Amino acid sequence: MNQDQLKQAVAQAAVDHIAPHLNKDSIVGVGTGSTANCFIDALANIKHTFDAAVASSEATAERLKGHGINVLELNAVPHMSFYVDGADESDTHLNLIKGGGGALTREKIVAAVAETFVCIADESKLVDVLGDFPLPVEVIPMARSYVARKLVGLGGEPVWRQDFITDNGNLILDVYGMDIVDPKDLEQQINQITGVVTNGLFAQRPADLLLLGTSEGVKSLTA
Ligand code: 5RP
Repeated sequence: MNQDQLKQAVAQAAVDHIAPHLNKDSIVGVGTGSTANCFIDALANIKHTFDAAVASSEATAERLKGHGINVLELNAVPHMSFYVDGADESDTHLNLIKGGGGALTREKIVAAVAETFVCIADESKLVDVLGDFPLPVEVIPMARSYVARKLVGLGGEPVWRQDFITDNGNLILDVYGMDIVDPKDLEQQINQITGVVTNGLFAQRPADLLLLGTSEGVKSLTA
């Protein structure tokens, strides 16, 4: 199977996982990216079995609406059973790096609300130690240089993502060379820098279930 087929397989596995738990009042949180897009396409086949979705980006909202899936604002949603999203990297504890598509802040907010976070990824995303993928950090524009200096102080090499503005009107610094031995601690340290909106480490709230697409089929990993 090629990478696209692995993404489609994990997307379908996620639909199969959540489908038995959905009812007419259910709200599904939906992530962003190419794997999440496969999930949206598979979710459309069962759109009559749940109430609505909450999108983690404008792009995801558009794709959901294109399939005729009702999209709600997160503030209108008191309870969400599942959030399904891809990742740039996952370790075996289901700590993640996310934000390759720049939607990390909204993704982290929707994931925080959901009871269960199902991460879907092909096997290339599973790593022993996080950090080969540059860590995205969303930054308020006027704080860019200050935050970059602080990130250098933490041992990273921040690079301003060119020609990119987040859905929240902010910038992204992609941080190379971070030694991510303690993802929870680093997530907290970076978030404490004034001007940082959030960073792409999902360790304080890791995934609950990782559905990993491999050449031997979809594997389920829990922390
Ligand atoms: C977007 C994300 C994505 O989940 C991550 O970049 C993975 O994307 P893809 O499924 O296209 O590999 O965090 O902000």
